[in-house]
Amino acid sequence: MQKSRILITCAKGIAPFLREELLLLGFPVLSETIAGIATEGTIDDALRLNLLLRTGHRVLFLLKEFAAPDVDALYHAVSKIAWEKYIAEDGYVCVTSSVDNPSVRDPRYANVKCKDAIVDRIKEKCGRRPDSGPDQDRVVINLYWRDDSCSLYLDTSGEPLSRRGYRKIPMTAPMQETLAAAVIRASGWNGSSHFINPMCGSGTLAIEATLAGLNRAPGLLRDNYGFMHLKGFKESLWNDLRAQAKKEAKKTLHCRIIATDIRRGAIEAARKNAATAGVEHLIEFAVCDYSETIIPGGGGIVMLNPEYGERMGRIKELENVYKGIGDYFKQKCRGYTGYIFTGNLDLAKKVGLRAKRRIQFFNSGIECRLLEYELYEGSR
Ligand SMILES: C[S@@+](CC[C@H](N)C(=O)[O-])C[C@H]1O[C@@H](n2cnc3c(N)ncnc32)[C@H](O)[C@@H]1O
Repeated sequence: MQKSRILITCAKGIAPFLREELLLLGFPVLSETIAGIATEGTIDDALRLNLLLRTGHRVLFLLKEFAAPDVDALYHAVSKIAWEKYIAEDGYVCVTSSVDNPSVRDPRYANVKCKDAIVDRIKEKCGRRPDSGPDQDRVVINLYWRDDSCSLYLDTSGEPLSRRGYRKIPMTAPMQETLAAAVIRASGWNGSSHFINPMCGSGTLAIEATLAGLNRAPGLLRDNYGFMHLKGFKESLWNDLRAQAKKEAKKTLHCRIIATDIRRGAIEAARKNAATAGVEHLIEFAVCDYSETIIPGGGGIVMLNPEYGERMGRIKELENVYKGIGDYFKQKCRGYTGYIFTGNLDLAKKVGLRAKRRIQFFNSGIECRLLEYELYEGSR
């Protein structure tokens, strides 16, 4: 089977964690940018990556690279590709793009030209044009065009992999699932010690930790991917990959996962989301103030994602919350490693503890930090 370049996109700042995942899965890293990593493999490998990756957003399989100075050249080159091999004439196709070419003012024009070339070609070969539009739940083709150089990819994910499918109730300021997975990876937590998540909101961190601790493939939760709509989709291979992933997952954890929030509605949502993810029975939920969250003996990590207040009026209130988290860490979490994920470093200073590590992330365009605090047992 033919290998091609596979580009895996990710949110800004997450590439180092995606790189780790790829290397662990045995894929080479050909190049890395702030928002993606290039590897190589077959289309079957792309299916495996969709199933197993926790921190990637989209798995793009390179179909062709060519030069195109303008949209007419683009149309001409795209119409030479044998699209009838990939897309059914009664199917549906969506074209997405990233365009920086001097002849194109509006990237949507490049999408339309690219889409026209695809559907015209299929009409010529098969007698009918497939439908097309903005929905990314079927075949998705991605165009990357810089100056004269074009790369056309099959977007084998379709909808981004961050949409795992378990978060039916998002609540306030939820973390993207892939970001939560990267934050957990950054902490080094591996399921061998307790994971305590006060202020859990919709439960994303606790759910992602449980999935990672079990080694349960996040892709098992989704039943629709772009590759499933391509001609020649190997359903039996996909079923085998799923069965293998299920076999490699643990059934239970030898640690406690505790998730709490002050709002009853948040805990109800988190519980439902965990049930959809199939891990509700492994997480201990409670409605309480973060400072009342129980910290079992034995050590582990305590991870909080407090609000970081875009509205000025809230800042004073939040300063007290951050100060309180520092006290909670000092008084109740000895023997653990504490983590705060926040987008407001001034608020973080109110914690009053020296962070051992500060890891940069981005959340909805806001620069954030994961701050790590060593909470020693003794009086150090
Ligand atoms: C930024 S949200 C957390 C989002 C979460 N990471 C997610 O992915 O859904 C902060 C959460 O802290 C909770 N919270 C605020 N003050 C609290 C307190 N004093 N004790 C416990 N939880 C609190 C809020 O109810 C909210 O759900």
